[in-house]
This record gives sequence, structure tokens and C-alpha cells, in this order.
Amino acid sequence: MKILSIVGARPEFIQGAPVSRALRQRHQEILVHTGQHYDYRMSQTFFDELGIPAPDHNLEVGSGSQGHQTGEMLARLEDVMLAERPDLVIVRGDTNSTVAGALAAAKLRIPLAHIEAGERSFDRRMPEEINRLITDSIADLFFCVSRTAVQQLAVEGIVAGVTWVGDVMLDANLHNRPIARRNSEVLARLGLAPRSYALVTVHRAANTDDPTRLANIVTALNQAPEPIVFPVHPRTRQAFERLGAVWGDHVRLIEPVGYFDMMVLEENARLIATDSGGVQREAYFFGVPCLTLRDETEWGETVAAGWNVLAGNTPERIAALWRSHVPPAERPPIFGDGTAADAIVTHIEAAQPLAFGQGRRRSAVEAADPVA
Ligand code: UD1
Ligand code: UDP
Repeated sequence: MKILSIVGARPEFIQGAPVSRALRQRHQEILVHTGQHYDYRMSQTFFDELGIPAPDHNLEVGSGSQGHQTGEMLARLEDVMLAERPDLVIVRGDTNSTVAGALAAAKLRIPLAHIEAGERSFDRRMPEEINRLITDSIADLFFCVSRTAVQQLAVEGIVAGVTWVGDVMLDANLHNRPIARRNSEVLARLGLAPRSYALVTVHRAANTDDPTRLANIVTALNQAPEPIVFPVHPRTRQAFERLGAVWGDHVRLIEPVGYFDMMVLEENARLIATDSGGVQREAYFFGVPCLTLRDETEWGETVAAGWNVLAGNTPERIAALWRSHVPPAERPPIFGDGTAADAIVTHIEAAQPLAFGQGRRRSAVEAADPVA
């Protein structure tokens, strides 16, 4: 098969790596980078470290408002799809690259697979929630990370073409963990001992674009009782500058780090505080307690398992949980066993012949009749 895979933002490069590896054993993959992320530290470093093949097309869309960025991607992706005529388009997650790829494919009637389907925050103020809802409403194959996502799709009437495969982020994590341990010198470079610091990341629009929420996070981090290492997303760096944030000596802001350094920083942290979807899951993979600096999360299984806590945004609550959060001994394998990418390829092959529109929704009549 000829499969066109779309990536554009940092987590998509990492998620894409194991899928590309599995696909290319038996199929032709055309890799398209939308250019949503473009700084060396946000993009090329992941291709270099993870050995991701160079994209066949880089659309160099760059930054912009939601509409401009998504619209540019849509136009350029349509041209690529018309030229390449793939049998299947794969999008992943919930970024603007995801929704643009989904819309372009569906309008050209090319079968569409969504990896990480069915995740919901139920907060439509998040651009990601809109991207997920639209993508799942037009996809044909749905690969779910969590069991909850399968149930959520069913509630939305989406039952055909849905498969639980686990998390390709876990595939990437298990594959690269020993390589990261061997190659990364980040602890020595930063003079850190294992379990002597907390790792923080923040980049969600809801936190960076709301000065009150951002100021709350600065206050909470300044009150934290231990050293903090904080690789800062470019969006967040700009927001801190706008806010005029002032930091305590124990808070160390650094440039975004590569994947190997990030894994080592995560694995050795005493605590992780983040609003990142990927970092919440990676905290769970490594068995590091996590505070999520949001009011809700798509990754509710990690909260139910007791390893992740929704810390919200007030300095008081964050400070209290920073001290008190102790996870249980058990850490059930909610994200699978690290073989999601192989399972995705197997299911794509089993779904032959692929047809646009096969991810059919239950009609109102069928939904009302349990036998239908
Ligand atoms: C995007 C995704 C988000 C994902 C995150 C991963 C959407 C709507 N959001 O958010 O779901 O969690 O990526 O990191 O797709 N910038 C740079 N250099 C870069 C990239 C971005 O300076 O290489 C700056 C630009 O000022 C840009 C801002 O960061 O305007 C935001 O980038 P954008 O890709 O629009 O959104 P993210 O916040 O990265
Ligand atoms: N990451 C990284 N370097 C950093 C910050 C994050 O390699 O400085 C990795 C992180 O380990 C995870 C992914 O980027 O694999 C998560 O991306 P991000 O937090 O940007 O997006 P989200 O997962 O929230 O969509």
C-alpha cells in the first residue's frame, strides 16, 4: 500500500517514529511534515535522534493563528495528496496538522486513519478538542490508546473500524529508553542527582495565553520546595516575557531539550508537573508521580490509577499536592505493552479493501434498536 503519514508538531514526530518503522517493513510510506514546528529544537532534533526518515514533503507552513495555520496546511496538503494519490492517510493526535490532514483526505475521499482517536477533554475552548472531534467525525479507521476512548467513540455512534492498540508513545519510550540512558549526559550537564529535582513543562494555550493562570503557575513554581528544571516551549518563553515573570533561584529555565535528554530528565525526576499530554503519559511509563497543571485531562486513566493528580491552577492547591501526592504501589499496564505500531499495521492490512466512508456512524434507528 501507499500510505501518506502526516506529522507537524513535536509529539507527532515522536509518535510517528515507531509507526514509520513498522509501516516501512511492508508498505510505501510518504512522510509529510507540515512545518507547524520548525525550530531545530522543536523538530529536526527528533528526526536526527530517532532516525526518522527525512520527510518526502515539507510544507513549511510555520506559525499563525488557528485559521491561517490550518487553512495553509489544508491547501498545501491537498496538493500533495492529489499528486501522491495514497491508498490511506494517517493523522495522529489533536494538532492543527491533524485536522488539516483529516479534512484534506476526507474531501478527496481518501481513506483516513486516526491514531490516538477518541480522546476527549470535554472542553471545547481547547483548539485540540475541536481538532479531535472533527477528525473522529470523518475518519475511517480509529486506533485508540485507552479503553475509555473506545467507549467514547461508541457513545458518539462510532463503532466500525475502531481498535484498541495501546499507545505508540510507549513503543517509542521502550525502544529508546536504553539508548537515552547510554547517550544522554543531561544530568551531568545540569549538575543534577537522580530524584533531587522536579521537572516542569507548560505550553497549553489555556495556561500561556491567560495572564492570570500563567502568573499563578509562576507563583506556584516559585513556592516549590525543591529545585525545578523547566525546558521552556517557545510559546511559553514568549508568554513569560510578556508577563515579566521573575523566578526564584531554584527554578532553572532551559531551552527545549531533545527526546533522549527529556527521557532521562523524566526518569530521574522526583516529581513531574506538566500540562503536556505526552509528558503525563511518560511520567506514568517511568513511574514518576505527576501533577497535571490543568482542570481536566484526556488521560483520566493515569488519574484513576493514582499516579497523576489534577492540580488545577491555584498556587495553594499546587503547593499542597506538590507535598502530599504519593502514588500507590500498583501501576497497571493501561497503555498496552509497547507493540501498538505493529498492531496498527496489522489492522490496516486486515481492513482491506479500504474504502472511504467505511468508518460509518450508527444511525438513529440503529442506535435505538440494540439488534441492528
Ligand atoms: C501545538 C498543538 C498542541 C501540542 C503542541 C506540542 C495545536 C492547536 N496545538 O501547540 O496540541 O500539544 O503543539 O508542542 O496544534 N513556535 C516557535 N517555534 C516552533 C514552533 C512554535 O517559536 O518551532 C512558537 C510560535 O510563536 C507559535 C507558538 O510557538 O506561534 C505556538 O506554536 P503552535 O504550533 O501554533 O502551537 P503549540 O503551542 O506548539
Ligand atoms: N519533549 C521533549 N523535549 C522537551 C519537551 C518535551 O523531547 O523539551 C517531548 C516529551 O518527552 C514528549 C513530547 O515531547 O514525548 C510531548 O510533546 P509536547 O509536550 O510538546 O506536546 P503534547 O504531548 O502536550 O501534545
